[in-house]
Amino acid sequence: MHLIITDSYQQSAVLAARQTADIVKRNPTALLGMATGTTPIPLYEELCRMQSRGEIDLSGISTINLDEYVGLAGDDENSYLYFMRKYFLDPLGIPLSRVYIPNGVANPAAEIARMNDFADQHPIDVQILSVGENGHIGFNEPGDVFYDKFHLVKLTESTRQANSRLFQDISQVPARAITMGIGGIMRARKIVFLANGEKKLAAMKAMLEEGDVTPKNQGTILKFHQDCTIYLDKELAASIQPARHVQVTYAK
Ligand code: GLP
Repeated sequence: MHLIITDSYQQSAVLAARQTADIVKRNPTALLGMATGTTPIPLYEELCRMQSRGEIDLSGISTINLDEYVGLAGDDENSYLYFMRKYFLDPLGIPLSRVYIPNGVANPAAEIARMNDFADQHPIDVQILSVGENGHIGFNEPGDVFYDKFHLVKLTESTRQANSRLFQDISQVPARAITMGIGGIMRARKIVFLANGEKKLAAMKAMLEEGDVTPKNQGTILKFHQDCTIYLDKELAASIQPARHVQVTYAK
């Protein structure tokens, strides 16, 4: 694990965007693993700015998303497809034919099979990742096992509560989602990870400090990833004592 401590969350996003852009410069048809939530928005905005300044061309990439809510169609503004189109796919000119995300209103078993068929044959070059308040990555909720592949999950009440800020009220938050499994995330060649805010402190401590790798806190599995870069602003990093295996760098 490589921890890069930055001056601000905005600097984290800019550095993470540059790292992602470098991969695409070397491989213009790279497969990018995408995350949703408010955390990666500044990273996606920076990639869009880089493309409009002519510094990078992302129009040839393909994308695969971590997850989607079951029950939300792609034109629902809380669906993750809608999010991806708004912040990333449409501004960059990436056609939906190269976008792999579960369809929230199709048969879940068929969608899981479709996503796994694609994922089994296409290694992710770089996975963008962040974490939920309870340590979930994608929608892999705290539990007793690490799942390997795409699967159906029942969302915990704490996740529904945390994500309800984006919905009218909690009754509108779907109860289930399809998510990439932990195995799929761990098979990504590279992980670019962002977190920010006090609410993520417990999850980040579990990931970066000495301690067990446990499905009770799914993000702890990242301790075993061979190429995971975590960007944290100095405010959040101040309360964390990184374990010996973590290589720490201060951004200039
Ligand atoms: C959702 C997504 C996660 C994301 C989390 C955190 O639950 N499934 O992939 O990490 O939200 O969201 P935010 O960045 O808004 O805190």
